[in-house]
Amino acid sequence: MVSKLMQTWDADSYAKEARFVSELGMPVLRLLAPKFHERILDVGCGDGYLAQQMILMGCEVVGVDSSRELVAAAKARGVDARVMNAEALTFESEFDAVFSNAALHWMVHLDKVMAGVFRALKAGGRFVVECGGKGNVKAIREGIEYAFGRRGLDGYALPKPWHFLDVPETKKLLEGAGFVVESIELFERPTPLPGDVGGWVSTFAKDFLASFDAENREDFVNDVIEHCKPKLMQADGTWVADYVRLRFSAEKPVMP
Ligand SMILES: C[S@@+](CC[C@H](N)C(=O)[O-])C[C@H]1O[C@@H](n2cnc3c(N)ncnc32)[C@H](O)[C@@H]1O
Repeated sequence: MVSKLMQTWDADSYAKEARFVSELGMPVLRLLAPKFHERILDVGCGDGYLAQQMILMGCEVVGVDSSRELVAAAKARGVDARVMNAEALTFESEFDAVFSNAALHWMVHLDKVMAGVFRALKAGGRFVVECGGKGNVKAIREGIEYAFGRRGLDGYALPKPWHFLDVPETKKLLEGAGFVVESIELFERPTPLPGDVGGWVSTFAKDFLASFDAENREDFVNDVIEHCKPKLMQADGTWVADYVRLRFSAEKPVMP
């Protein structure tokens, strides 16, 4: 069995269904505290929304992302964006800081990501991240598993496109790569969605849907919606997803 489902991205639906992801990245940007003229790498930059904020703060930003389509959207915002797998970063001691929002949980070999980030940083450089953490979108994952179960498939056994880390395993990965961890936390962040959970599934779990034709896809998504309704739909009809975030700040020591 495949161990990881590959996620694909579409710039228009990302802007419509997932703009909140980058907007909610602003506190992580504050933790990074970018300084004027700093050279910063944004790993998994997506369509460049946050990279653009750093450029507006006077930083020199390089964004990398594995999605050609999102890199094109980031370039259209004026970001120096490059198609690159974060597991094979090619930079050497050239960044003051490496930033990443909502991207690390999509990556498979995090030891390679951490090693590449460590190499990319100058001594004393910082690595500031927020991503999905252990327990993230549990109700939605259960909804997806339920919908597969209704079709005679074991949703638990299916490969998932995400890996939601907890604090000890992240610390181990960071320290294994040579970082000194400055802060690390796991916290619940209930997240209002722009529509219902169907939009979330179609954007963030779209490759689960790839094997269905249009009609069956709609039925599948409706089953997820119905299953999630009691937990995620609010009294006023809006939807709030059960996000859990992992946020950390680490430093490449000056003296190894
Ligand atoms: C939810 S989006 C977040 C994008 C952006 N950081 C933001 O805050 O809007 C996750 C991004 O991670 C990228 N990504 C996933 N795996 C990757 C990898 N191995 N290398 C580079 N980018 C990756 C995806 O292409 C996608 O753009």
